[in-house]
Amino acid sequence: MNEALQEIHDFLPCRTPQQWIDNALANQDLMLIDHAHCEKKAASTALSLMYRYVDNTDLLNKMSRLAREELRHFEQVLAIMKKRGVTYDHLTPARYAAGLRQEVRAEDPGRLVDVLVVGAIIEARSCERFATLAPHLDDKLADFYNSLLKSEARHYQDYLKLAERANGGPVDDRVKAFLDIEHGLIIEPDTEFRFHSGPVQ
Ligand SMILES: [Fe+2]
Ligand SMILES: [Fe+2]
Repeated sequence: MNEALQEIHDFLPCRTPQQWIDNALANQDLMLIDHAHCEKKAASTALSLMYRYVDNTDLLNKMSRLAREELRHFEQVLAIMKKRGVTYDHLTPARYAAGLRQEVRAEDPGRLVDVLVVGAIIEARSCERFATLAPHLDDKLADFYNSLLKSEARHYQDYLKLAERANGGPVDDRVKAFLDIEHGLIIEPDTEFRFHSGPVQ
């Protein structure tokens, strides 16, 4: 696992700032609610790719498995919320995914390549945040977040491989373009705390 996490740290443009960790620890109920939304959204993104790219067998198989895993994570977060008396609720979306999506090209195959690169980045950041938070959390939540690391690291690799295949070669320039945006979204002050937000003062 350490190797996979190292790869993710090398891939991402920066570590999560301390201020965000403080925000998360002070807002754990909100963090769980948003985490539940993230797992559900991850499954839904995978399903929409399966609807759109029906001729891509590799994508269909990988996304089908990924969607099942994300829904399983969703159920696990809900169970933890129930135990803690946290009520699931609607939340305004974070700026993170929308900020990344702005750079996605409109026409295929560029669109598919970009959506897959964004998927890889979101999975990598989630993995980094679970690993960063775990040592600060109570045992139950720390165990859960540590258990998620492995699948999120694999999801990151699956997305990146699918992006390279869709592009017919390396996607380094697209990865760089999206990581430049991601860097800003992670370090610049944000207005609302979310699982993928910037630091909130
Ligand atoms: Fe997940
Ligand atoms: Fe994932």
